[in-house]
Amino acid sequence: MITLDSIRKPVTAELAAFDEFVERQFTAEGELLSDMLRYALSSRGKGIRPLLVMLSAAMNASVPGAATGRRACLAAMLVEMIHVASLIHDDVIDEADTRRGKPSVNARWQSHKAVILGDYILARNMAIGLTSGQFDLVTHVCGSMAALCEGEVMQDECAETHDMTRRTYLDIIHKKTASLLGVSASAGALAVGATRDRVALMRRFGEALGMAFQMQDDILDYTLSAHTGKPANNDLREGKITLPLLAVLEKVSDERRAELIERLGRCRQDEASVEYLQCTVVNEGGLEAAAREMHAYLERAAGLLSEYEPSTYRTALVDLCAYIAERDR
Ligand code: IPE
Ligand code: IPE
Ligand code: MG
Ligand code: MG
Ligand code: MG
Repeated sequence: MITLDSIRKPVTAELAAFDEFVERQFTAEGELLSDMLRYALSSRGKGIRPLLVMLSAAMNASVPGAATGRRACLAAMLVEMIHVASLIHDDVIDEADTRRGKPSVNARWQSHKAVILGDYILARNMAIGLTSGQFDLVTHVCGSMAALCEGEVMQDECAETHDMTRRTYLDIIHKKTASLLGVSASAGALAVGATRDRVALMRRFGEALGMAFQMQDDILDYTLSAHTGKPANNDLREGKITLPLLAVLEKVSDERRAELIERLGRCRQDEASVEYLQCTVVNEGGLEAAAREMHAYLERAAGLLSEYEPSTYRTALVDLCAYIAERDR
């Protein structure tokens, strides 16, 4: 079993510098905003995005093992804070009451305060980025913010109509998740002055990894034994068709599909329908089908790294690909 701790090992010092950097930079004025900010930043996530930045920076540095420095810290902060803000907003959109094992910001305060906090984090993030004068890094990460919103809106529309195709699903997860992981991996390379080709390669790597990452997140939503610190079956409750259900819908008869969609429409009020669809997806191989697709993306991602010389950083990134498939949190 590959652990995140072992993957973090080659960049332990860089990640500690990143933690310190965020702590120093991210403060708020006023008691309520300070409390909410502290609350949101105190429950730590897995930190996949800063990890990607640091490993990519170290692997792309011209002098192997050279300290990756302030630009990598800044890049890691920019992507992780976009992520943190997007989760705060996402829990409002998804009406989720739990995040990282604690009440979500919207559950603890209220949705309108969660919206403000998410905006505040994004605003501070941009202000810190621009004040640093590292405009190339700020520009680089900005594109993923619009993509993220586009993905969330598309998903929301589909959840209302229960209309989903594989193409639309892939488009949504590319926008809402893969885009930011692609930006994270490539921002690490950009931070250490890698060539354009290498920056582009790292973006493709991060995007493939990100597609797999969201597929596993969607699988874990159906996995009652997972330790995500998030409510289980929330995607069904929100009327969302993600890959495990889509894989089942694609292979059943038109009649059965209509019946399953009708059930999905009832999930918001009816817990029996949630359980019914959950069991259907598990029993009809939806999780295995989704896992197969996820593995294909992970293989593609790991394959892209063969352009690099072997190093502890490359090994850690290959291990990160394996971790994504194994993770249960
Ligand atoms: C959750 O992301 C949202 C998705 C994009 C799937 P993470 O699983 O990276 O969340 P944390 O930061 O570890 O809590
Ligand atoms: C990912 O989708 C959310 C963002 C990219 C903001 P989800 O809605 O599935 O994320 P979780 O499962 O709540 O973390
Ligand atoms: Mg959510
Ligand atoms: Mg969501
Ligand atoms: Mg999810």
